[in-house]
Amino acid sequence: MYSSFEELHDVCMNCKNCPLASTRNHVVFGVGNPNAEVMFIGEGPGENEDLQGEPFVGRGGKLLDRYLASVDLDRSKNIYIGNMVKCRPPKNRDPLPEEVAQCEGYLREQIRLIEPKIIVCLGRIASCYMIDKNFKVTKQHGQWFQKDGIWMMGTFHPAALLRNPASKPDAFSDMLALRDKILEVCPGVYDGIEVLGTPVQP
Ligand code: URA
Repeated sequence: MYSSFEELHDVCMNCKNCPLASTRNHVVFGVGNPNAEVMFIGEGPGENEDLQGEPFVGRGGKLLDRYLASVDLDRSKNIYIGNMVKCRPPKNRDPLPEEVAQCEGYLREQIRLIEPKIIVCLGRIASCYMIDKNFKVTKQHGQWFQKDGIWMMGTFHPAALLRNPASKPDAFSDMLALRDKILEVCPGVYDGIEVLGTPVQP
């Protein structure tokens, strides 16, 4: 257990607990407001994230930013974005169970220290990990689950939306469901935003 987010960050940035440490360029700890009430969780860094040290910065990340903006969310202001594993698995393979096992304590501590009211899981791997090991994104996206006092939803991974744009309307309706849940359980997320815009599908 870490006493502050900064301490957790500093330990994680120097982590050598698994072999991914030897192939990474950067540890991708997370981005956003550590006091946010809404957290997004992905699977793990890809090539661009590994090069830049920030989650979701490639084409998928740009698309994610547009979905966030459609419901007045911004990675630099009112959310936090993290990943299950903090270092890039080579060739973008799925993280191995032992890599997840070595890394999951960091995510657990991020969640404990941030204390989000809502967690959105991006894609199948994060949804299975956080919500239910049998989670099916195509069937269960946009549904709310309450776990350990936190509202959780699984939705499409941005990379999946780039591969299959037919899912974009469903992803947008998940964002609208997220906005409704924010207005219900943590409306302060929108403090400082005078008039909420009419959401427009990216
Ligand atoms: N995919 C993820 O799951 N996380 C990232 O940070 C980038 C791509």
